[in-house]
Amino acid sequence: MPDDNDLRAARLLHHRKAQLGPGDPISPPLISAATFHVPDHTLGGFTYGRAANPTWDTLEAQLSVLEDAPVVAFPSGMAAISAALMATLRSGARVVLPSDGYYNTRLFADAFLVPMGVTVDYLPTQAFDSSDFAGVSVVFLETPSNPGLDVCDIAETARRAHAAGALVIADNTTMTPFLQRPLDLGADIVVAADTKAPSGHSDLLAGHVACRDTAILDRVRNWRRLSGAVPGAFEAWLVHRGIETLEVRLDRMCRSAGVIAQRLAAHSAVRGVRYPGLPGDASHAICARQAQGFGFLIGFELPSAPVAETFLAACPFLAQSTSFGATHSSAERRARWGDPVAEGFIRLSVGVEPVEVLWQAIAEALPGA
Ligand SMILES: Cc1ncc(COP(=O)(O)O)c(C=O)c1O
Repeated sequence: MPDDNDLRAARLLHHRKAQLGPGDPISPPLISAATFHVPDHTLGGFTYGRAANPTWDTLEAQLSVLEDAPVVAFPSGMAAISAALMATLRSGARVVLPSDGYYNTRLFADAFLVPMGVTVDYLPTQAFDSSDFAGVSVVFLETPSNPGLDVCDIAETARRAHAAGALVIADNTTMTPFLQRPLDLGADIVVAADTKAPSGHSDLLAGHVACRDTAILDRVRNWRRLSGAVPGAFEAWLVHRGIETLEVRLDRMCRSAGVIAQRLAAHSAVRGVRYPGLPGDASHAICARQAQGFGFLIGFELPSAPVAETFLAACPFLAQSTSFGATHSSAERRARWGDPVAEGFIRLSVGVEPVEVLWQAIAEALPGA
């Protein structure tokens, strides 16, 4: 029996087959249109490009196979996150966000949710699965958190949130549905930045919301239509193309990350290595239980900001860029953006380079080489 992910990976590559007619292209056509032929609007079909587009539909059908849930596509991860929050929160509501997750989610909450009359509480990711959510409407978790790679138990967090009558939104960007399945663990809504591993080539921004509750997802779709935060057809087409190789890329990236994390942990110039796949890591036990892999992100500390910057500049096979999940390995010092981490803390996103070549380049650039 193939495992679920193998079957999912195969289905992703053939999800259009049932609808193909003779002469149809095997790869999906890219349809960029603001308007469609509408001689009679009561007949249905495509009307205007802000409401729906055939290339979005193709991407959403593919993402639905990945998530095993209906999906609404967005032009960025933040567009997906803001849509999910705006669709589920009202004035007077209380939301819990991670204090150590992706910083723009906090900035969005402070800039728009608070003035709207929403109370925003912050909790460290590790505290989510032991918290009492009485009085909370939405619990928004991110696990493993970016950039600290702390985790919470999704099922236990969802159990506690549901006991308090709260909805659970999970940002699954750092893992993707191949490595972690929040909806199957009890989350109500998944949000993700497809800018990262799903598209995988650092050439576009994209995101999606997945949810098995039709009423909630209809509200999310309505938010997209009325706010106008719609994906471009070309970007949607590129994400679809990227996802066809997601499982293969992740396999290489996660295996390499495991090797590199071990070697960093054994290196005398490196401290504080975080990788959920290391048996001694604080995230290991929960991740091993609830995830299908440990991801491709590694955190580690060099002694200071200048030492870290020198390392990043010296390594020929690390793109010095923000973001993660691409074919090329990349790394950056997260304190430069104000993340609550040490000045010399580096987030390393392991790409698909052959691991020994990548490790040699990293080792030669580390202090003391
Ligand atoms: C965990 C996480 N969620 C969401 C986002 C936002 O994605 P985007 O940049 O596509 O808006 C990011 C971006 O880095 C992220 O790391």
